[in-house]
Amino acid sequence: MFQLLPDTTAQTLTVIVNGETVTVPHGFTAAAAMLLCGESATRTTALSGEGRAPYCMMGVCFECLMEINGEPNQQGCLVTVAEGMHINRQQGKREVRE
Ligand code: FES
Repeated sequence: MFQLLPDTTAQTLTVIVNGETVTVPHGFTAAAAMLLCGESATRTTALSGEGRAPYCMMGVCFECLMEINGEPNQQGCLVTVAEGMHINRQQGKREVRE
């Protein structure tokens, strides 16, 4: 379903998605990195536990909430990946850290 354009793989970096080390193109968002790994659900709902996936990829729908570098409730579609970044599926409701 998702395929890379030929020129987007020129520069890559390594991130950890759900505990798996993967190489992604420079400039990708965390949500795109997760989709590239074949992970369709970036979070589960607080009530039913149903998996939810990024929808708008532009910061509007909040379906892409995920845990990035241990910080919950991050909009994965708005966060550009960085070398060594830890990206994890968010399980249910998470409290915001102060
Ligand atoms: S996918 Fe809609 S806000 Fe991120």
